[in-house]
Amino acid sequence: MTKLARFGVSLDKSLLNKFDALLRDRGYTNRSEAFRDLIRQELILREWKEGGEVAGAVTIVYDHHAKELVHTITEIQHAHHVAIISTQHIHLDHDHCLEIIAVKGRPNAVRRLADQLRSTKGIKHAALSMSSTGKNLT
Ligand code: NI
Repeated sequence: MTKLARFGVSLDKSLLNKFDALLRDRGYTNRSEAFRDLIRQELILREWKEGGEVAGAVTIVYDHHAKELVHTITEIQHAHHVAIISTQHIHLDHDHCLEIIAVKGRPNAVRRLADQLRSTKGIKHAALSMSSTGKNLT
């Protein structure tokens, strides 16, 4: 259990009002939890910038009827197998597939995988969700 610390924050009333409105929109019930999440988000951005071990997911959507595309996607994933810890394939409808590729490793390795998938012809959308191993967030 980590030790709890308290500190005061001074800011313009108008900025605080905007912060509170943001919290309400996002469903937070108190400022402390929202503030902790903002700090964690910045820590995650720093992890990705500094090049340590990160985790996340690459999500892709494609039409599996596209010629050779399924084969190409498989080839790309094998080429980056070190960074991939799991892949989930969902048949969205008759034509479209959604794949969620869970990743862990160095940011550059994960980005290379995401960039290669994104630039592959036939992939309709590719998104990289930058998250964390969680080790440095407390
Ligand atoms: Ni499918």
